[in-house]
Amino acid sequence: MKILVICNKKGGAGKTTLAVGLAACLPGRVGLIDLDENGSSVRWMEGLNLFDVATGTANTIAAIVPTLADEYDWLVLDTPPNDVNAITFSTAIADLVLIPLAPSPLEADQLPDTLALLPEDRPYIVVPSRVRLSTSSGKSMREMCESAGHPVTTSVLPLSERIVQSFGSTPVRLMFRPLADEIVRYVERTNR
Ligand SMILES: Nc1ncnc2c1ncn2[C@@H]1O[C@H](COP(=O)(O)OP(=O)(O)OP(=O)(O)O)[C@@H](O)[C@H]1O
Ligand SMILES: [Mg+2]
Repeated sequence: MKILVICNKKGGAGKTTLAVGLAACLPGRVGLIDLDENGSSVRWMEGLNLFDVATGTANTIAAIVPTLADEYDWLVLDTPPNDVNAITFSTAIADLVLIPLAPSPLEADQLPDTLALLPEDRPYIVVPSRVRLSTSSGKSMREMCESAGHPVTTSVLPLSERIVQSFGSTPVRLMFRPLADEIVRYVERTNR
């Protein structure tokens, strides 16, 4: 089982949207644990039966996850913003930490605050999200990440009203599939 932790200390960065969209596109048996007491991932998936979803807490996550090792190929953890325990305890067990980041200097300015909470040497990758495809903002953001030495995905999540309106229904797989494929390849490669 591979554990993907979706995390950004900043609120509203697109964590839940990424967690749910990615989980809908990963191959094999997929589970999602929602560590945010707001429960948006769980609420989004209610009744859809696309993959297993459960709530969890920062204090129990380290004990629960090993019991699921034989149940799933992929476990996605959606984390709350500004919850240092949830972020540190979940990233401690991650095979890969995914950090959704909008191409905005204001958001990029806070990236170090998230990275400071990750255990040393824990693999992470920035996922450009809410990218206006008609502008060069995605490209500038990739250049900013690369020049700062941050791994960044080639696939991006576009700024999309379809994504916003898909809450409560099946995520728009078309928009998440290239990213999911890239993440699968990335995890396979970095685990070799
Ligand atoms: N690719 C996208 N295009 C347009 N809007 C998006 C996109 N991704 C997320 N959003 C919107 O941005 C808002 C925040 O997204 P989301 O709830 O996924 O972020 P979050 O990081 O989980 O927030 P929180 O920190 O509160 O848990 C939501 O209104 C969501 O619909
Ligand atoms: Mg959320």
